[in-house]
Amino acid sequence: MASMHAWDAKTELFAHSVIGYAIERLRIPKDPRWGSHPRSELDAALAHAITPDGAGGHEAMRLVREVLMPACRPMDDPMNLAYVPTAPTVAATMFDLVVSASSIFGGAWEGGAGAIAAENQALRWLAGLAGLPDTAGGVFLSGGSAVNLSALVTARSAYRERHPHAGPLAFAATTEVHASVRATARVMDVDVVTVEVDENDRMTAAALRHALHDRDDVSIFAVVASAGTTNSGAIDLIDEVADVCAEHDLWLHVDGAYGLAAMCSPQGRARMAGIERVDSFGVDPHKWLFAPYDCAALVYRDPAPAARAHAQHGDYLDAVDRQEWNPTDYAYHLSRRVRGLPLWFSLATYGTDAYAEAMDITLDTARGFADAVAARPDFDLLLEPELSIVLFRPHDWAPERYRRWSAQRAHEGVALIVPTSWRGEICWRICIVNPHTTIDALLALLDDMATFV
Ligand SMILES: Cc1ncc(COP(=O)(O)O)c(C=O)c1O
Repeated sequence: MASMHAWDAKTELFAHSVIGYAIERLRIPKDPRWGSHPRSELDAALAHAITPDGAGGHEAMRLVREVLMPACRPMDDPMNLAYVPTAPTVAATMFDLVVSASSIFGGAWEGGAGAIAAENQALRWLAGLAGLPDTAGGVFLSGGSAVNLSALVTARSAYRERHPHAGPLAFAATTEVHASVRATARVMDVDVVTVEVDENDRMTAAALRHALHDRDDVSIFAVVASAGTTNSGAIDLIDEVADVCAEHDLWLHVDGAYGLAAMCSPQGRARMAGIERVDSFGVDPHKWLFAPYDCAALVYRDPAPAARAHAQHGDYLDAVDRQEWNPTDYAYHLSRRVRGLPLWFSLATYGTDAYAEAMDITLDTARGFADAVAARPDFDLLLEPELSIVLFRPHDWAPERYRRWSAQRAHEGVALIVPTSWRGEICWRICIVNPHTTIDALLALLDDMATFV
């Protein structure tokens, strides 16, 4: 009989060595020079791994330690400032291992009640930060893309319940909305009515009204606002956008995959005026709320339309108790990992004040860095940061110089920063989500850029 499910003294040692590696991975600073290696090199190293006899646990761990991990960028390095990095807490990361070890089916209450109750408590915390009523509810998904898709499918379904004979459908979103929102429109085969942004990259009520005006060619069922655009961290004027949604009876979904995490601190929450009026919102704890991948929260003001849109039915599902809270009903999925549990465990371990404090550190670092950029004659600050993304530009740098600096400093392990563009022109973008990113280290980058040729 295969021994791979058996447990003996050798297994015990093996299990401890894997856990030991996980702890080491967390505890010891990662080499920031780690990053992608050529496919041919990795394929060659892996050639003997999957064979009829297997390479063995010892050899598999050697491959992980010596070959595979060094070929993955440490997203939690404090000087990883590109795209949207991550900075999970120790409790959240360690508890993710427990989730894996526990084989919990998180789709239905009867399978995962204990875990789902805790996930729901974390979701209620998020809903409460936003100011949604106690009846709000939702589910943890794999990422912001899955959140946007599931929320907009719900919004469309709710619209069709009210307008069964509606023709071609569309939702409205700005030019700055995340790529996943446009991808959602393609998957749903609906149009996007584009809303222009103001000089600070935000959706305003006036621009939304202008975009909705005279669009008799499509039935618009929702507006997607951003609470923290990915490129510049801009927050749409949610309160006034909510007025327009109320006037036109439109579902308001806020994509806060990155930025809504800031709600956990009072200064961050103060920037989200109107969030209490949304029909649904998404926030990814795996981005800026200190949870490991993959963890994204989708919260509905009223979860009932989501259940009507998403619940799956089949003979083999008849046994599921539909009177209970079944997370599978609130998004496009059936089986699910209880991926909200590491966030809950971390919240329970450290308390919500620790979250506010960590959030404030990142906000203050971004603010301090932006002020330093603005004070320098050799750099331009392109936009006042609303959150923790800063766009800036050294004077007279050609695109090639950006690429060289970025590649060299990544190679040396100094920092990972990649250029973006703003208003059609190349610039630097940094995104701070890690409380261990220091202002001194960031200021050193400015000095370094100033002398880089
Ligand atoms: C604002 C925003 N929405 C959605 C997403 C997509 O999230 P995910 O990559 O978790 O699918 C991102 C990712 O960066 C984002 O920044």
